[in-house]
Amino acid sequence: MISKVRGTQDLLDLRLRNFIMDQVKKHLQCYNFLEIDLPILEHTKLFVRSLGQETDVVSKEMYIFNTAKEDSICLRPELTASVMRAFIENNIEKKPWKVFSYGPMFRHERPQKGRWRQFYQINIEVVNSDSICQDAHFIKMLDSFFSDKLMLEDYVLKLNFLGCLQDRKKHKDLLNDYLEKVKTNICDTCKVRKEKNILRIFDCKNESCKKLYADAPKLTDNLCKDCNYKWEKLQETLQILSVSFVQDPYLVRGLDYYNKTVFEFCSPELGAQDAFCGGGRYSLGKELEQKNDYPSIGCAIGMGRLLILVDKNQDKLSIPQEKALDVILPMSQEQQNLAMLLAYELQSNNLCTDIIFQKASMTNMMKKANKMGAKYVLILGDQEQKDCTVTVKNMQSGKSETVKQTDVIKCLM
Ligand code: HAM
Repeated sequence: MISKVRGTQDLLDLRLRNFIMDQVKKHLQCYNFLEIDLPILEHTKLFVRSLGQETDVVSKEMYIFNTAKEDSICLRPELTASVMRAFIENNIEKKPWKVFSYGPMFRHERPQKGRWRQFYQINIEVVNSDSICQDAHFIKMLDSFFSDKLMLEDYVLKLNFLGCLQDRKKHKDLLNDYLEKVKTNICDTCKVRKEKNILRIFDCKNESCKKLYADAPKLTDNLCKDCNYKWEKLQETLQILSVSFVQDPYLVRGLDYYNKTVFEFCSPELGAQDAFCGGGRYSLGKELEQKNDYPSIGCAIGMGRLLILVDKNQDKLSIPQEKALDVILPMSQEQQNLAMLLAYELQSNNLCTDIIFQKASMTNMMKKANKMGAKYVLILGDQEQKDCTVTVKNMQSGKSETVKQTDVIKCLM
């Protein structure tokens, strides 16, 4: 047997996912976001430049292939870089450009609970907006989606502030001094990170490294006046908006493009891969050869992880009920055409209808209809065909009545 590729999923029931998508679309439309869709294939260099060469995603996890005539292309590992590319390439003049999209991303990571190689994100971006109030408003929008629309309770919003380029430069020097003292005890990957891209040490999964970094200098202790003001203002505004959060001074997110605000929504119910939404502020204009920096904020919600949480929470949500099902039983081949004509009539009136075509005894057909969850069973035998009638059985009450075929819709509605 040929099985599915490791780290991919067969999604065999999309009802809950569609409910979430329905909710998120309604929610984002209230905040004036526009839905867009972008290609899954992009030039590899778009992500190398935007996410950074030393990030795990770019250095280890990309699905890259070379085609005959084109540059190296890849399956997108995320959407932010693509949104910025689309913003620039399409000369979008709207300021800010508030957009969201949904689709598959690809990262060659080690699969585990909540981590796949093909996974799905709802990606939300506010491109070209500088205000710190935008950050607070954006985070409030997410928090209210999770708590008011999906009724999630047991989650934590982690918040940090990465400052401006100068702040990070200063911080990197302090971090380097700190690492010099402990460098014999850090893993080989972190030794490389220290030299090449020091902030990435905080992505290390190694327990002994993590312990050492718990005493490392904090970025928020060394912010410039302007960044410090924004960091304070962000926290103050979130408090005014009743958004609970915890400061996480070592939250740096796994991608190089972040500056200033970064955040993650995490749930202990998810185990090791506990973040179901992550994002922050970034400026990708320069990396994509623009004069303007285009300061922006965005996030991505991991659909697979969100589904794990919402699945446990279903009884608190008003998920639309399945439509009641009517099942038609043609008792012999002679009634099959009539069954299809009758089904068409019902379906044209928005009634969910199915037909059992297999030859079987009445008892077996009834059992099958019951298993399918039929509300009504419509029996078409020789007699019914001759009389232009149908025998309608209510599967809940067990009562049957014979009605004219022309009256059957009235009887089912
Ligand atoms: P990210 O933190 O890499 O950020 O991914 C965001 C979310 O996608 C994670 O919190 C997680 O829920 C989900 N996710 C990531 N990798 C996997 C995986 N292998 N399997 C399952 N779920 C996964 C970004 O992608 C940024 N582009 C977010 C952003 C948008 N920042 C600004 N704008």
